Amino acid sequence: MRTKRIKIFDTTLRDGEQCPGASMHLSEKMEVARQLARLKVDVIEAGFPVISDGDFSAVQTIAQEIKGPTIAGLARCVSRDIEAAGRAVSPAGSKGRIHVFLATSKIHREFKLGKAEDEIIRLAVKGVKQAKSFVDDVEFSPEDGSRTEPEFLVKVCQAVVDAGATTVNIPDTVGWAVPAEFGSLIGHLHAEVPEFRSGKAIISVHCHNDLGLAVANSLAAVEAGARQVECTVNGIGERAGNAALEEIVMALKTRSDAFGGFKTGIKTHEIVKSSRLVSRMSGLTVQRSKAIVGENAFAHSSGIHQDGILKKRETYEIVDPQEVGWGQTELPLTKHSGRAAVAARLRHLGFSMSEAEVTSIFSRFKEIGDKKKFVYDDDLAALVDGQRTDVIETWSLDYVHVTTGIHAIPTATVRLKRTHASQNQDLEILEDAGVGDGPVDAALKAIDRLTKTNGTLKDYLLRSVSQGKDAMGEVVVKVDFGKGEFITGRGASTDIIVASAKAYLNAVNRKLATSNQKTKIARKRKPKRH
Ligand code: KIV
Ligand code: ZN
Repeated sequence: MRTKRIKIFDTTLRDGEQCPGASMHLSEKMEVARQLARLKVDVIEAGFPVISDGDFSAVQTIAQEIKGPTIAGLARCVSRDIEAAGRAVSPAGSKGRIHVFLATSKIHREFKLGKAEDEIIRLAVKGVKQAKSFVDDVEFSPEDGSRTEPEFLVKVCQAVVDAGATTVNIPDTVGWAVPAEFGSLIGHLHAEVPEFRSGKAIISVHCHNDLGLAVANSLAAVEAGARQVECTVNGIGERAGNAALEEIVMALKTRSDAFGGFKTGIKTHEIVKSSRLVSRMSGLTVQRSKAIVGENAFAHSSGIHQDGILKKRETYEIVDPQEVGWGQTELPLTKHSGRAAVAARLRHLGFSMSEAEVTSIFSRFKEIGDKKKFVYDDDLAALVDGQRTDVIETWSLDYVHVTTGIHAIPTATVRLKRTHASQNQDLEILEDAGVGDGPVDAALKAIDRLTKTNGTLKDYLLRSVSQGKDAMGEVVVKVDFGKGEFITGRGASTDIIVASAKAYLNAVNRKLATSNQKTKIARKRKPKRH
């Protein structure tokens, strides 16, 4: 039986978050999960619970709070992984899914696992059965599926379906596949496993983009019988990323004539909002010419095209930009806008906030409103991002002053406030001044001395949040504090030096929060002396 519905399995919070420098804190993951629910994805893969306490609690909190989509947790075919995933997704009840995986390709069997084919099948079946003891909804992935011998892959699929897997996901783990070949592999599995034909179990695909073919491969798989596609917003993910959700969804919708009328349940007008949110939360900017969600995706510069569009949009536009959420910005707010208007706009933008949070955003809004004529939706979103963080602010910026210019030596004076993390009490105010290659360098060096950190700036990105000369600037930094692990920090202000200092301090606070957390866990785990 062939259904016309394609399930969208979003793995932005798991595979997407595996992208270096994209790691998100709990409040950021929650923001993304809420938006994914509004986008109406079928499944949210919320994390890999056994990997860290942070991942575990993200999956558990998402399973508790997000209603609508199925919530999945990833696990290797290892008992403690499956147990952790089972506990983490249990608040979702019947909407909880465990996604177990085990490599099946010859190269992984021989060099990574050192296991023979029958041992792989035994472990896969054991993993699925254990997962079944926690939830009904179990997905199995033969990792590196696209490079697995097709006949062995059929045996694996049949064995895990017999053990109770209701979804079998075929990953193109290293982005090796090409569309015709991948499509015929999926067609072969569909033909050989009766449960895929009867609909008792479905084939899913999970394509990586190493050769830029992730979306094409996923679509070829749909034509050959796959009924779930795994993807991420903006295509973020390991290495070159995963198949981009917005491209899969819009290709299926726009060219439904070519794809046999398949439908997804995605609310397409939420796509641009989702893209921007994921970009802000992950710190990964979207390429300007990216299909569907890039700034230039609907910008027509040639006169001939503009003329054609004015006469009939479809001459040069195959997707109506409004259909994916472009051009939905409301009238900008001004300093005269009241609290109720700001609260309503925050709700419209999808932020669910407590009264206290709205009050605090409103006072920041008034400060910005004094500096700029219009406060746009993106300005407001940047304010919320800067304000809402579950990172305890050990250090906050109290004052910054810079002198710079063509013949001047860039100098910065910085004053920071240190707050006692748990007691929310101001401990001290410290001030320092220094010089640097430029005003940002001078300010960051002063922050390093005051906070006794020594970060290396690996990436610095400044963008105008909205329009006009008085626009807010948003800075995203990636900082290496000496462990080779990048920490992302964000800050926004109408003054780009202040935005830079705030972004850097945000990274310092994250680093401190992470090391405090690790110390607490290490203390908790220290064996008792007898
Ligand atoms: O790329 C991959 O193989 C994966 C699996 C865990 C599904 O991400
Ligand atoms: Zn993957």
